[in-house]
Amino acid sequence: MKAAYINQTGGSEVIQFGDLPDPKPGRRQCLIKVAAVDVNPIDVYIRSGMIPAKLSFPWILGRDLAGSVLEIGPAVKRFKSGDRIWASNQGFEERPGTFAELAAVDEEWLHPIPANVSEQEVAALSLVGITAHLGLVRHAKLKAGETIFVNGGSGGVGSAVVQMAHILGARVITTAGTEQKLALCRELGADGAVNYKTQDVDAAIKEFAPKGVDIWWETLREPNFERTIPLLAMRGRMIVMAGRDARPTFPVGPFYVKDCSVHGFAMFNATAREQRAAASDINQWLSEGKLKARIDRVLPLAQAAEAHRLQEASTINKSGALAGKIVLTI
Ligand SMILES: NC(=O)c1ccc[n+]([C@@H]2O[C@H](COP(=O)([O-])OP(=O)(O)OC[C@H]3O[C@@H](n4cnc5c(N)ncnc54)[C@H](OP(=O)(O)O)[C@@H]3O)[C@@H](O)[C@H]2O)c1
Repeated sequence: MKAAYINQTGGSEVIQFGDLPDPKPGRRQCLIKVAAVDVNPIDVYIRSGMIPAKLSFPWILGRDLAGSVLEIGPAVKRFKSGDRIWASNQGFEERPGTFAELAAVDEEWLHPIPANVSEQEVAALSLVGITAHLGLVRHAKLKAGETIFVNGGSGGVGSAVVQMAHILGARVITTAGTEQKLALCRELGADGAVNYKTQDVDAAIKEFAPKGVDIWWETLREPNFERTIPLLAMRGRMIVMAGRDARPTFPVGPFYVKDCSVHGFAMFNATAREQRAAASDINQWLSEGKLKARIDRVLPLAQAAEAHRLQEASTINKSGALAGKIVLTI
């Protein structure tokens, strides 16, 4: 099979595209013919060596996939050959990556693709959609009528959080770096959208929620508690999920007197069962047209190195080049 893989960590130029042996499905695995995958910042961290990961070379990149079942192992119960499926949280622990024509995936990580949803759409929403759902439902316990501020609403995670918070009945205010991206955030359901480059974001949050926001979702890798805590409401919750190197100061006094809480999480720690609960809502909202993938561009898998270069420039070097996900087709 053709695959995008690395034999060492390093810059995007270490990514190779070529032939690797076809995988065989194990007892509880489905062999998937992959149609679409997407790029996530974590792919960049792993490929570059920014975060330590146990890699056996050649290491196939990628966390998410969408495609169809070619063959099933003898103990597979939920799927049959020909079923359209998607998966996330691969390329981690003992599970191989997804940037390949074929992938053998344990059925517990597979989700059906609704009839009216495309492989590209669901691939673009898989990891970021599960992340948004886990954060809002499991960690922040968002309730209808609450207010949420999403810092970075045009990004992969942010655009999913804005949409899901809106679907769940929250009032949403968010930020983006250009007028075009602000318009996009409003289309996704944001009630307020503020340009973080040209406007006073904190003043806009105070106007939107004079008593503070119930939830602050930070997508940036540099959380700033000195700024956030005064803008949280009584019993406000803050979600932090990025910035492994971040070591901000934490003002305890103004935090505890408002009964606030901080929730950190990484989606890859969620079990297959927890991820299936999120996937089920994602599938329903996708099929109802309430949730839409934000796809910035679609490239062939052979251009995986270029896709990584763009993602790295956008997320880490803040080039602003992307407004949503890069999808790669096979
Ligand atoms: N914990 C987890 O489970 C988990 C899961 C997924 C991702 N993550 C992490 O979450 C982070 C975001 O991921 P992503 O896929 O959403 O990245 P992304 O698509 O690159 O989005 C980054 C966002 O940050 C915005 N931004 C940049 N500078 C800003 C500023 N000064 N103020 C406000 N917004 C600003 C960008 O807005 P503009 O483009 O409009 O400038 C963009 O919307 C990454 O670090 C990733 O590793 C964690």
